[in-house]
Amino acid sequence: MIHSHDLIKNRILIVGANGMLGQRLIGYFQAEKNVELLASSVEEISYNDPSVPYMQIDMSKRESVKNVVYDFYPDYIINAAAFTNVDLCEKERETAWKVNVKGVEYLAETSRIIDTHLIHISTDYVFDGKNGPYAENAKPNPLGYYGRTKLASENALRLIGATNTIIRTNVLYGPVKNGRPDFVRWVVNSLKDGKEIRIVTDQINNPTYLDDLVQAISRIIEFRKQGIFNVGGKEFLSRYDFTLKIADFFRLDKSLIKPIKTCDLHQLAPRPLKSGLVILKAETSLGYMPHSIQDTLVKMKKELAL
Ligand SMILES: NC(=O)c1ccc[n+]([C@@H]2O[C@H](COP(=O)([O-])OP(=O)(O)OC[C@H]3O[C@@H](n4cnc5c(N)ncnc54)[C@H](OP(=O)(O)O)[C@@H]3O)[C@@H](O)[C@H]2O)c1
Repeated sequence: MIHSHDLIKNRILIVGANGMLGQRLIGYFQAEKNVELLASSVEEISYNDPSVPYMQIDMSKRESVKNVVYDFYPDYIINAAAFTNVDLCEKERETAWKVNVKGVEYLAETSRIIDTHLIHISTDYVFDGKNGPYAENAKPNPLGYYGRTKLASENALRLIGATNTIIRTNVLYGPVKNGRPDFVRWVVNSLKDGKEIRIVTDQINNPTYLDDLVQAISRIIEFRKQGIFNVGGKEFLSRYDFTLKIADFFRLDKSLIKPIKTCDLHQLAPRPLKSGLVILKAETSLGYMPHSIQDTLVKMKKELAL
């Protein structure tokens, strides 16, 4: 990403370092010679390699954000933190707003003051899923509170006027070692244990391999791109078909996968159904090239010894 002749190191602050995306970002940027990295997340105990400097941050508190940002003085902040439990967001609206909107406002305010480039991760849940896949300029219409907070965070970023890039992504999966398993590992573990799993046939997306997203973020830094970018996978398919692909690849018992409809789940938050993200802009202006699902499963099998 960064060339060896660059004399000055890029200082990168990763917020949400303990999360799925955060862990993969740390792994990637840690290996970059010309990057000075600071990991931060709300938990005091981090999963990360102790060789990576770590500071606790609560982005829902302005003082906490100021402490970390002004102390480290980053060139880039990558915000991979959020209140991501979509159903809980319906019940715990105040917390969801504080983290997903106020937290982003605080990051943007501090970024503007010290001229930091803020890269923020958003979601296809800003759309209603009536006519996806969506391009960057499609009109948002979130169905649930999580989507509303994420749309509000995008708007706050633009209003505050810090140098920023918004990346919208969907259905993240990949070789995450700590914390809750990603969708692929959950499917593999459940089927290996002989458990029946009920999977929806009516939610369409282009699932995104975490390391593809990390590559896109790295290119945004390299090319200093601002604005909105969709980052997703190559293939559009239902969650059910994605699950069948996983079972096929790992040679697991597909009869344990039961097709259902989203409405059968009686979840608190409505889901966008016909969703997913058009990735043409990222392909053409970042040279983004996502792997096929098949290739990503090969990588996961190797790295996680699944
Ligand atoms: N997962 C998906 O399928 C998906 C799809 C579309 C978009 N996205 C977006 O992609 C981003 C990354 O998602 P992810 O799945 O990697 O998330 P994740 O695994 O749920 O991790 C989110 C992290 O945010 C941190 N966090 C929560 N509240 C915080 C606070 N007050 N201050 C600081 N950190 C806080 C948590 O830290 P601790 O672990 O320290 O508690 C957690 O590790 C999010 O913006 C999400 O909205 C995700």
